[in-house]
Amino acid sequence: MSPWWQDGVIYQIYPRSFADSNDDGVGDLAGILDRLDYLEWLGVDGLWLNPINPSPNKDWGYDVSDYCDVHPELGDMATLERLVTEAARRGIRILLDIVPNHSSDQHPWFQDSRSSRSAAHRDWYVWADGKDGGPPNNWQSVFGGPTWTLDETTGQWYLHNFLPEQSDLNWWTQDVWEAFDDILRFWFDRGIAGFRIDVAHGIVNDRELRDDPPDPDAAGRLKPVYSMNRPETHEIFRRWRKICEQYDPARLLVGETHVLDPVVMASYYGDGDELQLAFNFACVYAPFEAERLRRVIEQTEAAIPAGGWPVWTLSNHDVVRFPTRWCQGDEAKIRCALLVVLLLRGTPVLYYGDEIGLEQQAVPEEAVLDFAGNRDGARTPMRWSDEPGVGFTSEGVEPWLPFGSGPDVASQRDDPGSILTLCRDLLAVRRERDDLRAGAYASLPSPEGIWAWSRGAGHAIAVNLGESEATVDLTGTILVGTDRDRDGERVESGLRLGPAEGALLQT
Ligand code: GLC
Ligand code: CA
Repeated sequence: MSPWWQDGVIYQIYPRSFADSNDDGVGDLAGILDRLDYLEWLGVDGLWLNPINPSPNKDWGYDVSDYCDVHPELGDMATLERLVTEAARRGIRILLDIVPNHSSDQHPWFQDSRSSRSAAHRDWYVWADGKDGGPPNNWQSVFGGPTWTLDETTGQWYLHNFLPEQSDLNWWTQDVWEAFDDILRFWFDRGIAGFRIDVAHGIVNDRELRDDPPDPDAAGRLKPVYSMNRPETHEIFRRWRKICEQYDPARLLVGETHVLDPVVMASYYGDGDELQLAFNFACVYAPFEAERLRRVIEQTEAAIPAGGWPVWTLSNHDVVRFPTRWCQGDEAKIRCALLVVLLLRGTPVLYYGDEIGLEQQAVPEEAVLDFAGNRDGARTPMRWSDEPGVGFTSEGVEPWLPFGSGPDVASQRDDPGSILTLCRDLLAVRRERDDLRAGAYASLPSPEGIWAWSRGAGHAIAVNLGESEATVDLTGTILVGTDRDRDGERVESGLRLGPAEGALLQT
């Protein structure tokens, strides 16, 4: 029997933006509870929630001030436990986001750490003396500027790969390892099915704090070979995996392995003893073009070790939503993209709103909350209906981020031609057919502009991402076409596809 997440589909929820149960304009856990029937109807198997822990929200939850509690704006432990139970009744598991690279500077560990050089938690964070009146080395923060801030209290600098309010934990300290073992067990004991690991590739920093070399591919940038991507990270995952395996079913680790080289990404699967899933950003950043995308998928398939399992995603809370980034709002292309992500070999992760083709939203300058300035447009409230409050909250309530505009669930739900129906039907057909869950991927020969592949012995998929109509050498019956009028069509002498059209065939 394959583990649940291999057969299943994961749905990512940005909790502040999914559903607001108490009319304060902020989505919450009780709101997710209210929407479980919808998620069951859609047919997803797991929910990954972006961080729900207490946080000063400098980086919207990615600056954790207590790893073992729930942010009061989102709910409480009792509601979370209810969510786990109610989701389980519908065959849905709950995954949380864990942020081991850094904590908030408001976390009691850091508060103690910065208080004196002899504090009990001093070496839980990375402290170093400056060099020539400047920071200890040349490392650059992912969010710009140096990764170091001088702390007047003790006259030393502390490391932060992200914001100064996100102080990096020191994974050269054994106590930090043990603290995270306990955090994992704390949540697993409460029925949490696994974790998405934030900045998975960056947890360990070079012990000697060596300078990063220049990046040959990005002028003015450094290649983070010492500030991130250290080999010792693998040891953390091997250890965490052992903890996961002590539970039944084994808990899942999905890494935010933000590296572009498929071989480096695949290294985080270890020897089948590290992450079960490692996010594949090469695919996210690839253009939506047949040739280029096919190559990325082939490279990924080749890089992942035998027994390893790919994971595919098109959107998340950090990047421009795929209907905008890949499809420029063209519905036909959006339908093709969903067909692709749901029919590759691997676990698909949908981002809330993907299933209705929600586009990136324009957020007026005065409403911007992301300090990085550009991610809010992917984090706006879920559009459940076109009523005031868009079904996210009650009429008259000011949402934490603007509602934006675009499609909504209510108007698509009963429309057989909608993106939502397509998405739901694709989830259903996956569930019904072994080939579509477990069958091997193999690229098929196809004319320019078309990308075609087989799954197992009995199914094939083709999408035309080119500008003109073309025919691919396939025979069979269309099970699901992006043009739903073609469902059930017998294909005898090649599958003809117009631009931005795709189909799943039983061959
Ligand atoms: C990850 C998160 C992102 C966050 C960053 C720092 O990339 O996905 O939202 O800002 O880590 O925690
Ligand atoms: Ca709320």
